[in-house]
Amino acid sequence: MIGLFMALGLLAISPCTANARIHERNSVLPSLSGTPVDMTSSQGGTYPRANFLSDGTLLGAYATTVEDNKQLVLVKSSDSGETWSLLGTAATRPTNASDLDNSYPLQLPGGRVLLAYRNHDKDPVSGDYTAFRIDISYSDNNGATWAYLSTPASMPGGPDFTPGIWEPFLRNAKDGSLQLYYSKENSQDDQDTIERISSNGGADWGDELTISGQDLTSRDGMTGVAQIDGKQLIAVFESRQGGTFQIDSITSADDGTTWGNRQIVYLPTGTGNNAGAPQVVDVGGTLCVSFMTDEDTQLHDWVNGAGAKLITSGDGGATWGRKIEVFSPQTVWPGVVALDDTSFLYMADKNGAKSQKIVLS
Ligand SMILES: *[C@@H]1O[C@H](CO)[C@@H](O)[C@H](O)[C@H]1NC(C)=O
Repeated sequence: MIGLFMALGLLAISPCTANARIHERNSVLPSLSGTPVDMTSSQGGTYPRANFLSDGTLLGAYATTVEDNKQLVLVKSSDSGETWSLLGTAATRPTNASDLDNSYPLQLPGGRVLLAYRNHDKDPVSGDYTAFRIDISYSDNNGATWAYLSTPASMPGGPDFTPGIWEPFLRNAKDGSLQLYYSKENSQDDQDTIERISSNGGADWGDELTISGQDLTSRDGMTGVAQIDGKQLIAVFESRQGGTFQIDSITSADDGTTWGNRQIVYLPTGTGNNAGAPQVVDVGGTLCVSFMTDEDTQLHDWVNGAGAKLITSGDGGATWGRKIEVFSPQTVWPGVVALDDTSFLYMADKNGAKSQKIVLS
């Protein structure tokens, strides 16, 4: 009898405790700390991304144009994003014959640094894409010099619209393998999120696994992945299902082997507005999603009119809120990296690649 009473007591207590914790986490508010920092030494640049190296420095990457060439540039910060300095370049190709962009840096557990990026060919006269590639380059000196490693995915080009591949994202899995995520077009209105796995540090890659969009005519893209509170994974991506872009998520309870539980993360306010290009980071148990939206300007000329915003979830992605603007319009291609349990860097192209510290309190 006492045992039963105690069991009922525990049942009654544990949901209250969980709710109190969720309530507490959902009262954690994000705010801007300091002013934006130019990541590019006045060089300009777009699509900034960064990750920490094991020595505590931040390795950043962005795409820029230098004279007639497109270039993927690496930068570093030894003070958590307060200042950045130029480090090296991973690839340089003529602007009229190629399309280099979407770089994403990640250090492997053994110390080698990888950069995944799109490396497409273009016809210099017509401007048509003649080949689509996701390429990986590597550096064994923390990002100073780079060499080609592999092409995990490629697709043929062609005249007018031809389906392509875009926006790679890398993640070290718990079992020591390497995960690559990217977006693959089936048609102009249908794009899926793909995952591939490498068990030899990115040299060779397994088959493509479609993890979102396989059962929908939806344009899913620009995927970012984070671990929720040290447990399951969440992937966020933009999705256009007939109308305009919104932010959706899926989760994985087995470290990225299988995915499901598709949810809406953010619907833009107003009518005919977009929210897209999300990335996600776990900051001390609070999920933070960066995205861009034209909901304030309502220009309806995506991506023109977009500014960069942030929403958070204190309950592992079940509910989202506490939205703030980080960069006013015109801003594109935001990314995020955690600094510690209460702060992170929000990066975006606002007249060039900038980083802005955000604190949660
Ligand atoms: C492409 O750009 C290069 C300079 O990088 C130039 O020499 C070449 O003439 C250009 N090709 C066309 C077809 O415009």
